[in-house]
Parts: sequence; structure tokens; C-alpha cells
Amino acid sequence: MDKVLIHGENLVKEYGTAIKTRALDGVDLQLNEGEFASIIGASGCGKSTLLNLLGALDRPTAGKLYFKDKEFSSMNEFELAQFRNRRIGFIFQFHHLLPEFTALENVLIPSWIESGVVNQKKQERAIELLETVGLKDKIRNPSNNLSGGQQQRVSIARALINDPDLVLADEPTGNLDSESTEQVYDLLRKINRDLGMAFLIVTHDRHIAEKSDRIIEMKDGKIISDYLTRSETPEAIWKNIAPINCKYRIQFGDGEQDEHRVCMPDTGYSGS
Ligand SMILES: Nc1ncnc2c1ncn2[C@@H]1O[C@H](COP(=O)(O)OP(=O)(O)O)[C@@H](O)[C@H]1O
Ligand SMILES: [Mg+2]
Repeated sequence: MDKVLIHGENLVKEYGTAIKTRALDGVDLQLNEGEFASIIGASGCGKSTLLNLLGALDRPTAGKLYFKDKEFSSMNEFELAQFRNRRIGFIFQFHHLLPEFTALENVLIPSWIESGVVNQKKQERAIELLETVGLKDKIRNPSNNLSGGQQQRVSIARALINDPDLVLADEPTGNLDSESTEQVYDLLRKINRDLGMAFLIVTHDRHIAEKSDRIIEMKDGKIISDYLTRSETPEAIWKNIAPINCKYRIQFGDGEQDEHRVCMPDTGYSGS
């Protein structure tokens, strides 16, 4: 059985005080170590909110969060900041690079934040990561001299510098043309295979999501389906999938039904 890396339990998030917006409405989600999963859903359905809770950038209104069985929803601000910086890598739609700084310096920023110094080893690692993302000859370039796709690659290398267990990416290609989008996804997949960290990627592009191993679909603050895209057999899907709060009953195997558990993929499998 795969090991659970991160687990959100009955997550609720409300914004506002007088007028409340319920952005997440009871979400359960488990992600295993090394998984490569996508979250899809219409704008406003709560994707970023969920990602921000999982990445400890924000706190849930209710519900609990665990990282390798350790609850982190109740950590204080200092512990949370440490946890975030050491365990989680973030990639955003807008890369937030410091424009005057070189690609290398940008990649090293999380390392400065963590330890206050940059040793030789970290610097070598940053160079290695910039090579991995295909920017070997751009290491000393100021980031504002790079193309959009190249800047996003720098931000990917930056997300990896502290060797996180989980990389959270919020519409990482939302700002790129379709060719760079494909390249960036292929790169994330390669990093997942080669370095083994888990990825959870928000996208509104189903075609792109199909490239991942698991698609989690959200609507109105809830997960409405959650399935593996590449399983050999429906039975494998059944065994591997994390239980989620689906509201409808499903058909499985020889007609067996299971309520409020998993949603089967729309792969055409009809249970016969
Ligand atoms: N900081 C905020 N304050 C108030 N409402 C917010 C805030 N962030 C998000 N929301 C609302 O919460 C809902 C979910 O937003 P979000 O998670 O950003 O959706 P998505 O990423 O799927 O587009 C939306 O209705 C949005 O307007
Ligand atoms: Mg969003």
C-alpha cells in the first residue's frame, strides 16, 4: 500500500465575516508519496483555496490537515512557516521571480530563507536543478531577460531547492502558450519520475490534466470525482483510490454498490 503523504479531513474554508463565502465545503483528500495528480474545475470552485490549505499558506475554518500522520493545522505560525519551507514547493501561475536577480539567485531564495546562508552544496544543487529544467546556459542571466516559459522553469527549479516532499502548482501554465504548456508539464512529469516528489497541479485544462495519473474534480467547494487515469484495471483503481465524499452511489464489478465512497472514472468502464 502506498504511504499517505498529506491528508485533509473534512476541510471547510469560509472567507469574510459579515457576508461569508464558503469556498470549501467539507473536502476530504489524501495524496500519497510520489503521486502525480491534478485538480480541475471551473473558476471559483475552490481549487486555489484547497491548494493553499494543503500548502499551509492559509488555515481551514474547520477540518484537519496531516502531513505523514502529523497534524499541521494546529501548528503555530513559526512552525507552519518552517514546515512550508522545508516540505512544500510552490509553483504559481505568475512566477514571482525577483526581476533583477539572476536565475541562480532566484532558485536559491528559499534556501536563504531557510538557513540564512547559501553553502557551496546548495549552490551546486541549484545549478543542477537549473540544468534539469533546461536552463544550463541561462544560470547567470537576470530573470527579466528570460522568456515567460524560461521564467516559469526557474520558478520550478526554485520550488525544488529545499528538496520538498510535495510540489503544489496553481495553474502553472496559465500564462504560457500551448507549446510551453506541454513542455512544462512534461518537465514536471520528468521531475516526478526522476526525483520522486509528489505533485498536485491545479489546471482548468482537462487535456493537460489527462497527462497526470489522477484527476480530482471540484465543483462548488466539493470534490465531485476522483479517479486514476492510468490504472490497468478498475480493480486497481478501486484499491488505490483515496475514499472521498461523493454524494452518489456507484456501480462496481458484479453490481456491488458502495455509497459515499469513490467515484469511478468516466473511462467507459461499465462494470461488466
Ligand atoms: N481571499 C478571499 N476572500 C474572499 N473570497 C475569496 C477569497 N479567495 C477566494 N475567495 C472566493 O472563494 C471561492 C473559491 O475561490 P478559489 O479557491 O480562488 O477558486 P479557484 O481557484 O477554483 O478559481 C470563490 O468564490 C472566490 O471568490
Ligand atoms: Mg485559482
